[in-house]
Amino acid sequence: MKLNQFFRKAVDLGIAADPRGKEQIQKQFKKEKERRKKLEGIDLELFDEERTWNPFGDSRIINGTGDEEFTSIAVGIDIETPELLLIDHLRKNGQRIDGALIHHPEGRALADLPLIMPMLVEMLAESGLPVNQTEGMLRPRIDRVRRSIHSDNLLRVGRAAELLQVPAVCCHTITDNLVYRYMEKKICSQKFDELGDIVKALLEVPEYKYYAVRGMPPFIVSGGKSSRPGRIRPNEFTGGTNGPEEFFEAQARAGVGTILTMHMNDKSLEEAKKHHINVIQVCHMAADTLGMNLLLDHIEKMEPKLKVFELSGFVRMKRRKL
Ligand SMILES: [Fe+2]
Ligand SMILES: [Fe+2]
Repeated sequence: MKLNQFFRKAVDLGIAADPRGKEQIQKQFKKEKERRKKLEGIDLELFDEERTWNPFGDSRIINGTGDEEFTSIAVGIDIETPELLLIDHLRKNGQRIDGALIHHPEGRALADLPLIMPMLVEMLAESGLPVNQTEGMLRPRIDRVRRSIHSDNLLRVGRAAELLQVPAVCCHTITDNLVYRYMEKKICSQKFDELGDIVKALLEVPEYKYYAVRGMPPFIVSGGKSSRPGRIRPNEFTGGTNGPEEFFEAQARAGVGTILTMHMNDKSLEEAKKHHINVIQVCHMAADTLGMNLLLDHIEKMEPKLKVFELSGFVRMKRRKL
């Protein structure tokens, strides 16, 4: 399998699970193509062709043309220069590693992470929040994320991959979308009497169990073991990064009772408690691993020779039924 084939398939899977829906995404592609026609000079040079077919700003090939073989791959949640050196070392010891599949974005995929954040509007609309309100609350948060990323040394990992000749691709919101849908189906659609039962159900997911027995179980951060869950939503799994604290009050008003999340800052937790929203925090690395596994299960159907080398927090766990 070639890197291009791999990535195109990943994008398609991400779109199929995306809260924005296929139609809205196609509309966005059309708009970008129209916009490109009117550009010239430096504006045309700065136009990103990727935006005409890939709706995930935070997912792209950060090293390679796409023509490279991509069948025996190293997979990690974070792959930076140390992991790339490790790959180089393993290759020198005879291990075949065609390239790297990375979850957390690097390079331009990180620079363009804010582009994905507006999808939170559609994600929260699925929980009943009015799009105008969510959009208004989200705008300052996107600006803040953009300003903070902008000053980072973004190109260093891509350059290391180039020097070590490791083709590399980031799949961030693509696999986070897969986790979002998985959590919806597996957990949120079920009836639970109390929060403790949700924690038990989470422990049945192999990735959460794997991390739980290593000290990182899912745990209740707002509410108690015997609290009633109300409506359960997986609203902190996709969308680039977490939204503003104001989302908690808005979700409480929209009737959300329990939120499943991967991380909670103090301010958000305070807001959640104030508005009686229960929150269960699952292991971040386990959730990211789950998403990468769901993607690889699909890829394996296309490429039965797929070989995975586990790195940086990732462990391969296969699901037979997709
Ligand atoms: Fe993630
Ligand atoms: Fe993550």
